[in-house]
Amino acid sequence: MPGSSTPSSEALPAHVAVIMDGNGRWAKARGLSRSEGHRAGLEATRRAVRFFAEQGVGTLTLFAFSSENWARPRDEVEALFELFVSAIEAELPELVERGIALTFIGDRANFPQDLQTRMTDAEQTSAGNEHMHLVVALGYGGRWDILQAARRWVASGEEGPDPETTFSGYLSTAGLPDVDLLIRTGGECRISNFLLWQSAYAELLFIDPFWPDVSTVELQEGLAWYARRQRRFGRVIASGAGPEPGEVSSA
Ligand code: FPP
Repeated sequence: MPGSSTPSSEALPAHVAVIMDGNGRWAKARGLSRSEGHRAGLEATRRAVRFFAEQGVGTLTLFAFSSENWARPRDEVEALFELFVSAIEAELPELVERGIALTFIGDRANFPQDLQTRMTDAEQTSAGNEHMHLVVALGYGGRWDILQAARRWVASGEEGPDPETTFSGYLSTAGLPDVDLLIRTGGECRISNFLLWQSAYAELLFIDPFWPDVSTVELQEGLAWYARRQRRFGRVIASGAGPEPGEVSSA
């Protein structure tokens, strides 16, 4: 990816979403277990949260466990749940210190009780923090989200003058801006049922490194890449009259 200068604040995405892929392959390449790959992935997650918070990104959403991940071997799923429990406990004080609000999206009903309790406690403890909103998607699927929103929307009978905006208010991401920049690591070029509605106009960046290998260098390059995009939102921009690359104003 050519170039990696620091973007100006106008060109900074308000909402970055990350599909943190490649923990398993990272581990396999080193003769380690998949769970060791996820532990290394947690280190990369820590780096990424600090980095985006320091850059001033307002919302960061991380895909940590999908609806489809339930189909993984039982021991891997259990190890992931244990990792989430210990990570929430270990990281919460620093998140609060940095002014970061932590929330979770997804269907948590079938999670172990101790994980559900930690998730709720963390949401309550960090509520009201305003420096950054960190959203962790656990048991999340984009289709699940649209379906649960549709059910509640229909039940409400609320159409409103702007149905798309009204409907967005029923998604698990209600109140958050749409995704501006979606990054997927690990070399695959698909969005795998992540924030389907919310990423309608996201800039999609697919990079090769496995998640545990992703450092602030790749993340900085990602922001610089985003800053060079010209976002048109379906409109035609007259040459010389349109927004500068990376500018997200709706003008
Ligand atoms: C995808 O890699 C990664 C996951 C399903 C788990 C993500 C979890 C973490 C990064 C750790 C902690 C995160 C938080 C927010 C507490 P994969 O297993 O699909 O890798 P592969 O494609 O190489 O098999």
